[in-house]
Amino acid sequence: VGHFAIAIDGPAASGKSTLARELAQRLGLVMVNSGAMYRAVTWQVMQAGVDPENPAAVAEALEHMVLDCGVDGLDSTLTINGVDPGEALRSSEVNAHVSQVSAVPEVRRKLVELQRSYLDHSDVVMEGRDIGTAVFPETPYKIYVDADPAVRQERRCAAGEVDSVSDRDRRDSQRQTDPLRVADGARVLDNSGHTVESAVEEALVILREQG
Ligand code: C5P
Repeated sequence: VGHFAIAIDGPAASGKSTLARELAQRLGLVMVNSGAMYRAVTWQVMQAGVDPENPAAVAEALEHMVLDCGVDGLDSTLTINGVDPGEALRSSEVNAHVSQVSAVPEVRRKLVELQRSYLDHSDVVMEGRDIGTAVFPETPYKIYVDADPAVRQERRCAAGEVDSVSDRDRRDSQRQTDPLRVADGARVLDNSGHTVESAVEEALVILREQG
């Protein structure tokens, strides 16, 4: 029996993580945050003292990384070289470099493969930047979450990372390999005027129409 994926993409601070988490809970599906994988590789690059701005060095460092992704109930788990970096994934150092590391094609190739392998075992809600375009282009279930600039600005401030978020969005949208964009077949969900609950309701309507 084939498993299916719900792809949730969008820029930082759009509220897509919260939406994806709620949807996964509501539907009883495993929730996978693909950004955590890019953050883990970035963290390990920095632990190893490798220059995150040097794509060849990052690709070489990747050869020495063992990324283990799994499932615990409806949550996904991750270790890199046997370590769960935990809160360090959200540090300002990782925020500052994750987009550069994510732009390295070898990094994307490796992580996309890991992301696809979730479907060997489970149905998933996966959120990221390229889930509907590159990871699961064949899934009918695709939502692109956006929010107007004022709302996103507010979320950015609340997250305490004003500069790095707009920097990341620019880099994530302009990179060569699988940039952030609305996937073919995706429906845009404007999260600006929504509460969490009303966003989930709209998403469920969209998914029903896509199925
Ligand atoms: O989702 P989150 O903000 O944690 O993602 C962190 C970074 O990881 C993004 O800014 C982007 O550079 C990268 N990313 C990506 N592709 C994904 C998910 C995240 O390139 N599917």
